[in-house]
Amino acid sequence: MSLARIPFWLVMLIASMVVAQNVNYQQDPNWKVPVEAAEKKNPLANQPELAAGGKKLFIRICVECHGRSGEGVKRNAADLQLSIVQAQSDGALFWKITNGNPDRGMPSFSRLPELQRWQIVLYLRALKPTESSS
Ligand code: HEC
Repeated sequence: MSLARIPFWLVMLIASMVVAQNVNYQQDPNWKVPVEAAEKKNPLANQPELAAGGKKLFIRICVECHGRSGEGVKRNAADLQLSIVQAQSDGALFWKITNGNPDRGMPSFSRLPELQRWQIVLYLRALKPTESSS
């Protein structure tokens, strides 16, 4: 069989398995961030060096579902590198981490100290966006 006969969808399916990223992640339209929450600024925004601590926290508590680079390994877990995620404000990501979306498998992390949550947001910003993955 020549390569040209392999259906395009199959190539894409295999490619997505090889890359192992949840690029097909569909956001929950009902998981809406309140406007005031989305407008909150990251109090650590001018201390980018704190992203390293955010990475440690991320690896400890988020990796199981989101993968080391935020690529979304567990079923339904968001690929945090996607532009639909990165386009959201720091406040919106903070709110989502704080409240979670338990019905769809994202736990609430309100028990984590607030500054640690902001630190994780700093780290999320350091993830490489995936549009062209390699
Ligand atoms: C038990 C698995 C699990 C763990 C642990 C987890 N997540 Fe999630 N996360 C999910 C799932 C599933 C979704 C998608 C929820 C949905 O479909 O609405 C999600 C969504 C998100 C989103 C929103 C993406 C969007 O669409 O805007 C962010 C941000 C996020 N997670 C960050 C984190 C961070 C940071 C941690 C660690 C503190 C973490 N998650 C830990 C499963 C998890």
